[in-house]
Amino acid sequence: MSGTTDTWTTRAAELTGRNVVVVGGSGGVGEGVVRSALAAGATVVATGRDDARLAALAQRMADAGLPGTLHTRLLDAMTPGLDEDVRSLAREFGALDGVVVSVASWGDQGRKPALALDDDEWQRLLDGNLTSVFRLFRAFLPVTAPGGVLVQLNGMSADIPFPGSAGVALSAAATKSLTLTLAAELGGRGPRVVQLVLGVVRTRARQQAGIDDVRWIDATQIGDHVAGLVAGTSALAHTPLQYFTDRAEGPIAGRGLR
Ligand SMILES: NC(=O)c1ccc[n+]([C@@H]2O[C@H](COP(=O)([O-])OP(=O)(O)OC[C@H]3O[C@@H](n4cnc5c(N)ncnc54)[C@H](OP(=O)(O)O)[C@@H]3O)[C@@H](O)[C@H]2O)c1
Repeated sequence: MSGTTDTWTTRAAELTGRNVVVVGGSGGVGEGVVRSALAAGATVVATGRDDARLAALAQRMADAGLPGTLHTRLLDAMTPGLDEDVRSLAREFGALDGVVVSVASWGDQGRKPALALDDDEWQRLLDGNLTSVFRLFRAFLPVTAPGGVLVQLNGMSADIPFPGSAGVALSAAATKSLTLTLAAELGGRGPRVVQLVLGVVRTRARQQAGIDDVRWIDATQIGDHVAGLVAGTSALAHTPLQYFTDRAEGPIAGRGLR
């Protein structure tokens, strides 16, 4: 990876009048994206599969007194009714200016060598991390505004080995391929499609669990960058492959795909 550095540290993205759906908004990274989009004045729809987690997120955002408006919705990427659920969101909020896919599913098998996974564990990991993303892209792209952007947040296991977590890692590699293929198929017509590969993130949940490192990227720094992608003010607004793996360097374009 190498390329153009972005001015993410100083840009105040303006999202007033725009709507952003954060799929997985109740998750660690998703919360940072929700917070930044609200800070930039957006109407935000944060989704998750658990009512209590969404309610807790809504309470934290209300306590923060941010200018945007937050809505929460239950949404499961694997439900047969996904397409209709997404169309219903579009009827309620209009064409979407930003769709951020921030889903992860670690399964309950724990860390295991790749070939120790049984068939069911393998299938669950692929369903949760690959098929879920495919289904979300297929449902959301038709309701994303032509000038809007669909961003998939991904991890570095898209590019490097991740011993003990093969199902997550190969899904990361596959969803990176899927996102870039989609961007190429669209060829600049219709919404922009962006793959954003992240380094380790400082999330609220991790900090609460006492797992923290000041060198990690804050979830809200990722959110600020994503807000710039939605607003179109980011230098990387039209770059399909991006990395944000180094806090000091900020977001950069992936090699050969600027
Ligand atoms: N955390 C990091 O350090 C880090 C680093 C690099 C990249 N990333 C990337 O950031 C993204 C999010 O990770 P995270 O750490 O924020 O994970 P997380 O805290 O586990 O959150 C995952 C979110 O996805 C939702 N979700 C899971 N499966 C879903 C499904 N089938 N349908 C709909 N929603 C579903 C969860 O909802 P429920 O909780 O309600 O199930 C939750 O809101 C992932 O793509 C990950 O690769 C994270």
